[in-house]
Amino acid sequence: MEKAEPIIRINDLHHTYLRNTPLEAVALRGVSMEIDSGDAVGIIGRTGSGKSTVVQHLNGLIRPREPGKVIVDGQDLSDPSLDLRKLRQKVGLVFQYPEDQLFERLVGDDIAFGPRQMGLPLEELRPRAKWAMEMVGLGFEEFKDRYTFSLSGGEMRKAAIAGVLALRPKVLILDESTSGMDPRSRKELLGRIRNLHEREGMTIVLVSPNMEDMAELVNRIYVLADGKTVMTGSTREIFARREELRRYGLGVPQVTEVMHELRSRGQPVDVGTLNVEEAEQEIWRILNS
Ligand SMILES: Nc1ncnc2c1ncn2[C@@H]1O[C@H](COP(=O)(O)OP(=O)(O)O)[C@@H](O)[C@H]1O
Ligand SMILES: [Mg+2]
Repeated sequence: MEKAEPIIRINDLHHTYLRNTPLEAVALRGVSMEIDSGDAVGIIGRTGSGKSTVVQHLNGLIRPREPGKVIVDGQDLSDPSLDLRKLRQKVGLVFQYPEDQLFERLVGDDIAFGPRQMGLPLEELRPRAKWAMEMVGLGFEEFKDRYTFSLSGGEMRKAAIAGVLALRPKVLILDESTSGMDPRSRKELLGRIRNLHEREGMTIVLVSPNMEDMAELVNRIYVLADGKTVMTGSTREIFARREELRRYGLGVPQVTEVMHELRSRGQPVDVGTLNVEEAEQEIWRILNS
């Protein structure tokens, strides 16, 4: 069977901020990625490696320059006649402090804002907002008439994500959107994002410094260093390459780290272990052999 065209294709992307000024900063110096429709992909790299710059290209906040290419769902983003509104409907981007993206007085209005701008008829706005709110765990009846400013930090995050989801994007990008959340809310939100991926087939791009989040949610990882893609592979393959990751200032999930340590002390364990259940099985296997 012929392989379908990936929903996102980035080819040799370069970007310089404040070009031709004394503050010029080269952010990207050759990034390439392919993301298949329906996949869940992670981008990791130390601070300043270019992760946010890459994802801002994907919804048109930054336009690609020659010779770099960004193709989203068959559309070349360097095309000057590109319809940004349509693109942003397709690619939802949630930033690090998504609560800053809230601006309507009432939660329900805020979430319906995007679809209203899109020109969706009134009778479709309500079910859209309801679906999006329920996807993130904000009960529609309970929250739609609440004031946005009265929400807790975690609820604001959820409302902001629901606002992006209400556009029913094909691709959802989360750029460190769970940092600063308490562990329980973060886990709950990740579980909900996983549902979106598994049940709705939504393509997910996750940027997070948390390797546990990566192990839990994504199938494939791209590693950025100094504005370049330096490693790529399945999540398992990437976390099995601990020494290489270390050179780029990155770690592996804690359970994977334990397996690497056992291995370096001569135990024949599989270091491609991603979670506690797998680690437990591996350890039993070794103890019983
Ligand atoms: N608005 C900006 N103006 C100037 N330089 C920037 C801007 N945003 C990011 N940079 C620089 O570009 C590089 C990549 O940044 P960024 O894409 O934010 O990395 P990451 O998200 O991986 O931390 C860094 O050196 C950063 O200082
Ligand atoms: Mg960033």
